[in-house]
Amino acid sequence: MGGVSLGILGVTTAGGEALAAARREAERLRGAGAELIVALVSGDRRLARDVREATNARLVVQGGLGRADALPPTRDGSGWVVHGGRQGQGVLVVDLHRPTSEGEAVDLSAWSVEVSAEALDDEIAGLERQLAGWRAEGRSGPAVERQAARLDAMRAERAALRPPRFPDAGPAFEARWIALDAQAPKDEGVGRRLRALDRRINAHNERAFADRSPPPVPEGDAAYVGSTTCGSCHAAAYEWWRSTPHGRAYATLEDLDKEFHLDCVGCHVTGYEQPGGATVTWNLEGALEDVGCETCHGPGSRHVAAPTAEVPPVETPESLCVTCHNEEHSTAFVYAGYRAMLRGPGHGLPPAGSP
Ligand code: HEC
Ligand code: HEC
Ligand code: HEC
Ligand code: HEC
Repeated sequence: MGGVSLGILGVTTAGGEALAAARREAERLRGAGAELIVALVSGDRRLARDVREATNARLVVQGGLGRADALPPTRDGSGWVVHGGRQGQGVLVVDLHRPTSEGEAVDLSAWSVEVSAEALDDEIAGLERQLAGWRAEGRSGPAVERQAARLDAMRAERAALRPPRFPDAGPAFEARWIALDAQAPKDEGVGRRLRALDRRINAHNERAFADRSPPPVPEGDAAYVGSTTCGSCHAAAYEWWRSTPHGRAYATLEDLDKEFHLDCVGCHVTGYEQPGGATVTWNLEGALEDVGCETCHGPGSRHVAAPTAEVPPVETPESLCVTCHNEEHSTAFVYAGYRAMLRGPGHGLPPAGSP
């Protein structure tokens, strides 16, 4: 890159063995001509710092599930650690200027300044509140003056806050994070590769978890029977449900080659990892695919065996919905509005065609 050889390595597990392997890999890369090492780490901040130290990387990019938000660069020894966010929610772009291994790299990121500014603004607001309270109480004296002086200093620091000047010599870098929302432009090449990766993960998990069965149903408790069994008596409700997104939720994943992805399947099937419920591979031969009847009305074997003696609950609290309709996966969720959409012909309304 720009005439400089970059060595890139990745670490996905913690522990001494992984660090030793990372150290060896960094040495191998340097031996092969890499002038700068960039390390990718799936794990927590501690691991990111350990890897940086073990490899003497200039830049460590941390990801993984431990933290949702991307974080601007923080200095660590002779390098920097950046957090890239998780689950493909964004792209971290790092521009390296004069990327030599000599000298300390200067962080030119506006992002770092923004985050520092937010922290300072919070502190300033807190101090302003404290001083206003003291003045309202009529307090004065050296303690008040000291805090007032601290506030002035902080305001001056805030006013002066901006990225450092581009250095006359030596390395510098800028990091920024770009959200990949629905409006983000698509790249065909990246899309193809991600799709191929998704297929590989699907094929791998289907084999690796082939024997994954759910916890057993405790003696006497109701077991899951699957929506088709419910449909044998509640035909109109079943037909309506099939026409709704809940009744197609598994196909949504199949269309994306993600029905065996551990990050996805849990909310697109029925009774995931519950006693007798679906697992990543096991779903009563398809009967527990989709967000089925028993998601909301509970496992139904006892009701099926004695329909009038064991009547399942009808009302579904918001707390159930938000186990799946959370902020990450259902941004538009409002209980009353979504709950109203669960009423359809044969399901809370007279079946189609009835007077
Ligand atoms: C063998 C036929 C049969 C099957 C199979 C069946 N049900 Fe029922 N279901 C009934 C009957 C009959 C009632 C009415 C019971 C009553 O009110 O006394 C009922 C009532 C209900 C009610 C309560 C309705 C209300 O107004 O209180 C719900 C909810 C329900 N069933 C859901 C299910 C679900 C979910 C399944 C699948 C697990 C299922 N049913 C399978 C026959 C069946
Ligand atoms: C097991 C997870 C799960 C639970 C629990 C759940 N849902 Fe859903 N819901 C989904 C999924 C997944 C989809 C999208 C399916 C698809 O399109 O593939 C969805 C879609 C919907 C939709 C369609 C939204 C649209 O824009 O058309 C409504 C309405 C809805 N859910 C309401 C509810 C309500 C109300 C509750 C609670 C009573 C609830 N859901 C409980 C997983 C769940
Ligand atoms: C925490 C539960 C949860 C997980 C995990 C989850 N989903 Fe969903 N998914 C939902 C819910 C809820 C909806 C419905 C959102 C709405 O309409 O408000 C949904 C909707 C969708 C839709 C939109 C359907 C449409 O066409 O509008 C797609 C596509 C989807 N999910 C795919 C995935 C994929 C791929 C994964 C794994 C990366 C995944 N989901 C993981 C709960 C989840
Ligand atoms: C996402 C949650 C959810 C799913 C999935 C769901 N239901 Fe319901 N069900 C409800 C709610 C909420 C009501 C109350 C509707 C109303 O009257 O406003 C209800 C009402 C009912 C009733 C009583 C009202 C009536 O019209 O008889 C029956 C029976 C029933 N559901 C059966 C089923 C069956 C069978 C399925 C699957 C084919 C199913 N439900 C899927 C939430 C759900």
